[in-house]
Amino acid sequence: MSEPLRYEYSPPHQDSRVDHVGTYKRTLPVSLERMYENTLDWEHLPHLHGSSFTSIECLDAGAWGWRCRVSDAKGRDSLLELRLDRDCRRWITRNLEGSAQGAEIWTHVFVTDAHQMDIVIDYFVPGVESAKREKVGMAYARSYENLYDEDVWMMTERQKQINQRVDSINQDDEVMVPVSETLPIKTSLSGRGFYVDRLADGWVAYPESCPHQLGPLSAGVNEDGVVACPWHGYEFDVRTGACLSGHSCRLGRSPAVSKMGDELRLHWVSD
Ligand code: FES
Ligand SMILES: [Fe+2]
Repeated sequence: MSEPLRYEYSPPHQDSRVDHVGTYKRTLPVSLERMYENTLDWEHLPHLHGSSFTSIECLDAGAWGWRCRVSDAKGRDSLLELRLDRDCRRWITRNLEGSAQGAEIWTHVFVTDAHQMDIVIDYFVPGVESAKREKVGMAYARSYENLYDEDVWMMTERQKQINQRVDSINQDDEVMVPVSETLPIKTSLSGRGFYVDRLADGWVAYPESCPHQLGPLSAGVNEDGVVACPWHGYEFDVRTGACLSGHSCRLGRSPAVSKMGDELRLHWVSD
């Protein structure tokens, strides 16, 4: 027995457009800017939404939207196109090729506050017999509930990081952190958040947020001293800050770590 949806699904109207299979509505605690950013961000699909998408290849992308080949968790391939219409505050996602070819998902947003909006998502799937339309619509709504839970986490976390950004630091700042078995250890220095982790040859501190779009680097380092971001899969060498996945960004400045008994001292050293 499936869990009930937490948000609203309306079944198709029998006299509505023939291939309409239902509508999903919910309120999101995000700004329009974060929402559009997320909509245009094709790259996060197989990372943040790894349980829904397994791979993506971008054919074209821009301020208009994107066109990508994707594979889903059931091994199905599709060619998806998303077109954003800012004037109408909506985007239309079309399945151009693949098992759901011809399906269209129309998403409208209604801004209710600076950091709140209602979204209304209509699903249109051709070739579904009338008795099965509600079942198909519910399946889309369930899948979107999960995708939006993941997107809300990303958008609200990114907003929090943007709000907390501090530009200047005092070189004399330092902090003592107790050594813990649970890694990485979260701490802060000079108003910035860091993770401290153990490498084969000592301890290292690195920023809590990814330099790409401020995703959380909370997963800890692997045995090679590499941390991966869950949002788009960028990887960083925490010793040097270099991005190892071929993107033009690097980890932000990090304090040095010295072990002193049962504590770790984080302090700034000159660049
Ligand atoms: S926020 Fe995009 S890879 Fe980290
Ligand atoms: Fe998403």
